Amino acid sequence: MQKNYGVKFLSFGSALPEQVVKNTDLEKLFDTSDEWIYTRTGIKQRNIISSDESGLTLSLKASKEALSKTKLDPKDIDLIIVATSTPDKLYPSMGCMLQGKLGAVNACAFDISAACSGFIFGIVSAAQFIYSGEYKNILVVGVDVHSRFIDWSERSVAVLFGDGAGAVLMSSCLARDDQILGYSIHSEADKNLDLILENSNISYSNFKKQIEPDFVRMNGKAIYQFAVRVVPEVVAKLLDKTGLKQSQIDYLVLHQANQRIIDYVANKLSFNNSQIISNIEKVGNTSAASIPLAIVSGLSEKKIKTPCKMMLVGFGAGLTWGAIAVDYY
Ligand code: UT7
Repeated sequence: MQKNYGVKFLSFGSALPEQVVKNTDLEKLFDTSDEWIYTRTGIKQRNIISSDESGLTLSLKASKEALSKTKLDPKDIDLIIVATSTPDKLYPSMGCMLQGKLGAVNACAFDISAACSGFIFGIVSAAQFIYSGEYKNILVVGVDVHSRFIDWSERSVAVLFGDGAGAVLMSSCLARDDQILGYSIHSEADKNLDLILENSNISYSNFKKQIEPDFVRMNGKAIYQFAVRVVPEVVAKLLDKTGLKQSQIDYLVLHQANQRIIDYVANKLSFNNSQIISNIEKVGNTSAASIPLAIVSGLSEKKIKTPCKMMLVGFGAGLTWGAIAVDYY
């Protein structure tokens, strides 16, 4: 496409709930063990919201942290995109509520739903507004609070998810300085509904009956196989599209769904340990927040050294998946 401008990533921010839930805490809820969870997923603990926290409070904290690293005022933000599949309310959108809390009075705001690929889809969507010249400063937030949609008596899904938010501020720059080297996003209908979270099950005819809550339901094996198929494919596709060589990519930042998926992909694509950014042990699978959370912890722990080229890859319910090659400096 014709690009009038390029994208500069100004800053990242992140937020986690205060409460830490360790695997040993889950042992008290259902028949599981720290050993099983750690060896099958790489997760040791996750953060879960308390009653005074929400997706909005986390989004606000992550956004303020990103803003504090720049000279931007909330009034300078032209667009807010919140990627989430666990919004606090079906409406108003998380974007509009965040706009209000931030005082981003000049922004337009909306949400996108692409599950664990949401942050990738959010950045790609934001980039189009920058490339066209429509907007200058855009805030993209990935936030999920799956703890509100988990059956905490059932072990197969409950061990995986944690809550969190991550934010990035993107600004326009000269087209030749574009830090997005390329992207590739995809979707395909999840015909077997291998990963599903129902909405309201109220209907005209049943509204007087007792309504049972709906929880995340997942065919873990099918999603695992989907991930190890599409992630190497999309990375290869993006390398081809951009003309980049695998050896030019310094870091692989994969959606943190399961350490075994990360290890499989790293091995298949010949990335070495120091190039793999992983924080799943400490935060679990935070869905749309997982990529920015991994970037923020990678930068603060100096596992990501700049300048660098990063391959960001998301995958999740929908089914959705996508990758962005970023030149970060
Ligand atoms: O971000 C969204 C995308 N989601 C994902 O990417 C998730 C992808 N899938 C996975 O990460 C894995 O499939 C899981 C971690 C969810 C499950 O691991 P698995 O190696 O596929 O285990 P499994 O479901 O095949 O279960 C193996 C055994 C079963 O027992 P039997 O039938 O062998 O006796 C399960 O009942 O482990 C049992 N099991 C558990 N045991 C202790 C299942 N969950 C647990 C548990 N604790 N939490």
